[in-house]
Amino acid sequence: MSLASQAYDFRDKQQAYASLATALRGLLEHEHDAIANAANTSALVFDALPEINWAGFYFLKGSELVVGPFQGKPACVRIALGQGVCGTAASRAASLIVPDVHDFPGHIACDAASRSEIVIPLLAGPSVLGVLDLDSPRPARFDDEDRRGLEQLVKIYLEASSATLRTLLAC
Ligand code: SME
Repeated sequence: MSLASQAYDFRDKQQAYASLATALRGLLEHEHDAIANAANTSALVFDALPEINWAGFYFLKGSELVVGPFQGKPACVRIALGQGVCGTAASRAASLIVPDVHDFPGHIACDAASRSEIVIPLLAGPSVLGVLDLDSPRPARFDDEDRRGLEQLVKIYLEASSATLRTLLAC
């Protein structure tokens, strides 16, 4: 299997996300390690999506999200449930699109270049195991098609990894 980066044409977002989903399935096919798979998922997403300056995971440990594998500038390590965009999405157990982070009360700025953000929760039944977080330097970068596409990628990640992730998080 080649790990070389591939061009995805996001002029057709639906098709690009479908291709990414196929690529992610291939990448995670024989691996269940939650950290290894999070590392490769964030690398694939960061490499493939245009206009992204951060892509990565936070995992829920107790009542805090703790940063996991990611691509981009160093990030804040701990986010309390209900705080920031990530903590809000995790406490609602629902995806959250923020078109302008400057308008989101309590937004936590890890990279001053970030202007919009999307957060997808990692859901295992009723449990929130963490989130996938993406930042963009362009306002209103993310729409419902991104949400659907990224939710599908998170589903693929969890199908491969949720058992070892639960062990890691002791939940
Ligand atoms: N902006 C996020 C913090 C994480 S960084 O963007 C990587 C938030 O408000 O939760």
